[in-house]
Amino acid sequence: MKILVFGSFNIDKVYSMPHLPERGETLYCEGFEIHVGGKGLNQALAFSKAGEQVFVGGKVGKDGDYLTGYLKANGIDISDIDSSGEHTGHTIIETDPDGQNQMILFGGANREITEDYCDYLLSKHGDADLVLMQYETSCVEYMLAKAHSLGIKTALNPSPYVKAINDIDFSSADILILNEYEAQSITGKKDARECAEALYALGSREIILTLGADGSVYYDGERYVTCPAFKVNAVDTTGAGDTFTGYCLSHLLGGAQPYDALITGSAASAIEVTKPGAAETIPSKDEVERFLLANKTM
Ligand code: RIB
Repeated sequence: MKILVFGSFNIDKVYSMPHLPERGETLYCEGFEIHVGGKGLNQALAFSKAGEQVFVGGKVGKDGDYLTGYLKANGIDISDIDSSGEHTGHTIIETDPDGQNQMILFGGANREITEDYCDYLLSKHGDADLVLMQYETSCVEYMLAKAHSLGIKTALNPSPYVKAINDIDFSSADILILNEYEAQSITGKKDARECAEALYALGSREIILTLGADGSVYYDGERYVTCPAFKVNAVDTTGAGDTFTGYCLSHLLGGAQPYDALITGSAASAIEVTKPGAAETIPSKDEVERFLLANKTM
């Protein structure tokens, strides 16, 4: 399948902390690494590793070769990526010994995307089987509405959550894929099923919710399917949702039953969190298949 991922490209600066700092606290970190990242880049990689043909749209700055070079080396077509004289987006990520994190996001070139650029991408990739987007770039609402009006299947990962997301016309998103916090923030509900039903009522046709240690959920107005999470020793959860997104959507679009799509996404993200980093630790299709075979009891 042909997938167009419209999204963000970030340089991730990752600091290993003894604990996540309190307000006003100064802390030495115990390690520092630089990784490729950004929800767009990570999700493009996950889709590609799942076996799909991936094209990416987005914008990097003068220091963006590190990201575009990585995508190219991993077989992803980068010919449509726009560039700017400004800084590439970057993220400061603090991780604690339990693998939990907090982030500071600098949008940079990701926030310079224009409607003209979206038009260009859609005119070139109108034959895509899916356009996937997140909420780290400018023009998401425009891209979503335009792709939908052209009859292209759309998936929206409304992440990270900001209040403006509540104003999106979700009926333009065929698939909504999001975590529990994002779902609760959009709907004002607490319970996963209530969140899924409320999101469905906003107009999307398929809802996929990730619930951390409580697994994941699929809802399409008729079927409410739940899937447990795998228990693994998490070192860094950065990119777990992106890995789940690429693998789960790849299987769903390929005709898999919702449970099989959820469990495949879940296996891929379970492997990804056992190593530090985001995109670089997204597993191959073979690794995911071996993991599923070894953990067949679910
Ligand atoms: O979802 C993980 C990603 O979020 C990181 O790679 C970081 O860049 C932020 O965009």
